[in-house]
Amino acid sequence: MTTPRILISEADIQRRVRELAAEISNDYAGEPVTLVGVLKGAFIFLADLSRHLTMPRSIEFMAVSSYGMGTTSSGAVRVLMDLRRSIEGRHVLVVEDIVDTGLTLHYLLELLSTRDPASLKTCALVRKKERHEVDVKVDYLGFDIPNVWVVGYGLDHAEDLRALPYIGVVDPDDETAGE
Ligand code: IMP
Repeated sequence: MTTPRILISEADIQRRVRELAAEISNDYAGEPVTLVGVLKGAFIFLADLSRHLTMPRSIEFMAVSSYGMGTTSSGAVRVLMDLRRSIEGRHVLVVEDIVDTGLTLHYLLELLSTRDPASLKTCALVRKKERHEVDVKVDYLGFDIPNVWVVGYGLDHAEDLRALPYIGVVDPDDETAGE
């Protein structure tokens, strides 16, 4: 049985989420925004972030293929669930749990920019900069982290451990992690 090692505590996450929300609210200055949460991992971050924002906001979701049950990127990104509403003329903020190689976010930005939003920005809770394969701009970033496999606060290890209130580190090859 392996318990994840705490990398970012619950208190630190909550403090940073409030800081990010204050910065975002200040930048949009009351303009309505469409928040696009990237499923599944961003659902908890988006829930907390959106409750601290002050401007009018609507919430949409997209689901994209990730690594499946494994932990290495195939590089291929597939849209499993698209937005239900048009983003034409809207200010769009894409909310991601983690930017690893950057391929997913890069692909999403290319796709969404073809739909003529008024603006398109990105917010990610954590980023593994040393793993980046493409240059992708994160406008609002929670934390830079090293190249480790993280779980909790929406992030999974083989679909497990998403509900942990903190961000922890597991050995991705450990099949008993979290048991
Ligand atoms: P990308 O490599 O930036 O395209 O990230 C693709 C996806 O991989 C992310 O949205 C996550 O779902 C997943 N991922 C990458 N690193 C981790 C991790 O450390 N823990 C959990 N999921 C991860």
